[in-house]
Amino acid sequence: MIELAPSILSADFSQLGAQAQAAIAGGGTILHIDVMDGHFVPNITIGPPVVSSLRKAVPDVPFDCHLMIENPDDYISAFAEAGANWISVHQEACVHLNRTLHLIALHGCKPAVVLNPATPLHALDEVLDIVHHVLVMSVNPGFGAQKFIPGSLRKIETLARLRESRGLSFRIEVDGGVDLTTIADVVRAGAELLVAGNAVFSHGDIGDNAKKLLHAARAATMARA
Ligand code: DX5
Ligand code: ZN
Repeated sequence: MIELAPSILSADFSQLGAQAQAAIAGGGTILHIDVMDGHFVPNITIGPPVVSSLRKAVPDVPFDCHLMIENPDDYISAFAEAGANWISVHQEACVHLNRTLHLIALHGCKPAVVLNPATPLHALDEVLDIVHHVLVMSVNPGFGAQKFIPGSLRKIETLARLRESRGLSFRIEVDGGVDLTTIADVVRAGAELLVAGNAVFSHGDIGDNAKKLLHAARAATMARA
């Protein structure tokens, strides 16, 4: 099932609750929350207190916390308590990835793993059976509004084939540079959880932007079928 996950990274943080609500009203069914520590990526963003405040404004949709941080094990309980439902960690940041994914599940959240553009899929071979979703980065993480890396499409296609051949059920999420010019391609490649920040929050009407993206994504699914 195709779902839009608006990424609040590009929202106006002084109006975070209202803007997140507008994106949900436009059809977003997951809220994507980018957590950056200034070490794993060269930027600092959101911590647990913001997640917990946002939870009050948006009580009903899953919070998809994308941890772009070193030592994620140290922060999983704080994000779970703040209201995260899904927690994803970077393969590149986890020395003991299997342990980290189990720790996320132990805190009642859905565990997920993220791959940077330069990391090959086979790095996930041993954990694909224990993740709720795999997040394929289609930009180098750290900033919103970057240009989509076209090679990500092949990676998504290969991942979808791998899932089928192994009879697994993880979902495939894509993050970075997803907009009206790229969304049909990522859907045709096999992505179903579509993160979009800049394309939802940076211009025009937030609800309309979300609607248009979902419409384009669904049209691509029909073309695929
Ligand atoms: C980038 C973040 C993304 C970002 C995507 O490091 O992980 O979630 O918000 O932003 P856009 O959709 O603007 O490329
Ligand atoms: Zn993200």
